[in-house]
Amino acid sequence: MKITVVGAGAVGATCADNIARKELAEELVLLDIKEGFAEGKAIDMMQTAALLGFNTKITGVTNDYSQTAGSAVAVITSGLPRKPGMTREELIGINAGIVKGVAENILKFSPDAIIIVISNPMDTMTYLSLKSLGLPKNRIIGMGGTLDSARFKYYLSVALNCNSNDLQGFVIGGHGDTTMIPLTRYATYQSLPVTDVLSAEVLAKVAADTMVGGATLTGLLGTSAWYAPGAAGAALVESIVRDEKKLFTCCVALDGEYGQTDICLGVPVIVGRNGWEKIIDYNLNEEEKVAFNKSADAVRAMNNVLKE
Ligand code: NAI
Repeated sequence: MKITVVGAGAVGATCADNIARKELAEELVLLDIKEGFAEGKAIDMMQTAALLGFNTKITGVTNDYSQTAGSAVAVITSGLPRKPGMTREELIGINAGIVKGVAENILKFSPDAIIIVISNPMDTMTYLSLKSLGLPKNRIIGMGGTLDSARFKYYLSVALNCNSNDLQGFVIGGHGDTTMIPLTRYATYQSLPVTDVLSAEVLAKVAADTMVGGATLTGLLGTSAWYAPGAAGAALVESIVRDEKKLFTCCVALDGEYGQTDICLGVPVIVGRNGWEKIIDYNLNEEEKVAFNKSADAVRAMNNVLKE
């Protein structure tokens, strides 16, 4: 099995590192446009193999897509990250050109690859990939809700003083500070609804902190985060290559599900060997439906920028 990660920057390299440590592939190709950058990251990572004990061959390449041939999964992280004060939406013009070009090159050499889109604004980049690549929709997966859900569990774990692994929780909708929807009603702690163990006030703060979770880190770091985004990308790769059929929130093409069409948006899906395999209907209440439709409107407006 071969996996490619495009973009050897903070998120791409972290994703590759996780993929190697988990031994999800025999071969892992890290590709970047910056001369020597992916090569350097790959060699550095390969020098951890003797220390960490993994057996994945990581190759770094500068823009040579022939080296990625036959990849089962390609993770696209190439593009600009946001700086403090920037929204994900402001990255749209530059990243659209990058993501489209990269995805086309990947498919030239790996026509069967499942594409995971991470570059921001991710919902629009996923939609762009869906529209421009002509692939079956299940092979295009946007990674955003997987990260936002992990952040939701982090803030819940702080409020409950517990381990994130004791929690279930999903964030759906768009991957933007104002478009994501932490589904507090469905979150559980040790199988109990969190609404039974936390006050409405605390839950509202958890949801608010989750929504600006990325911006909080951008403020602290001076650029956007990488550990959790990289790990989230690798978790999706793992569910695909091991056919785990785990439930994640991913940005996928909606065709009437959740009342939306002609859009890619974060919903709970089963992820397995065929990409995203099934959308799970969470039966939203009226308030959640309103929030979801509002989120869709905002993402659609962003998608329309591409058409202008
Ligand atoms: P970074 O700047 O550290 O890395 C980006 C890399 O992409 C650079 O090494 C650059 O040389 C490379 N690149 C640019 N154009 C390329 C091209 N045409 N072909 C190949 N490589 C190219 O940025 P970072 O922090 O890794 O973020 C990457 C992207 O991921 C950003 O758009 C960021 O906003 C997004 N992101 C998305 C998240 C999500 O949840 N969906 C979470 C965190 C970041």
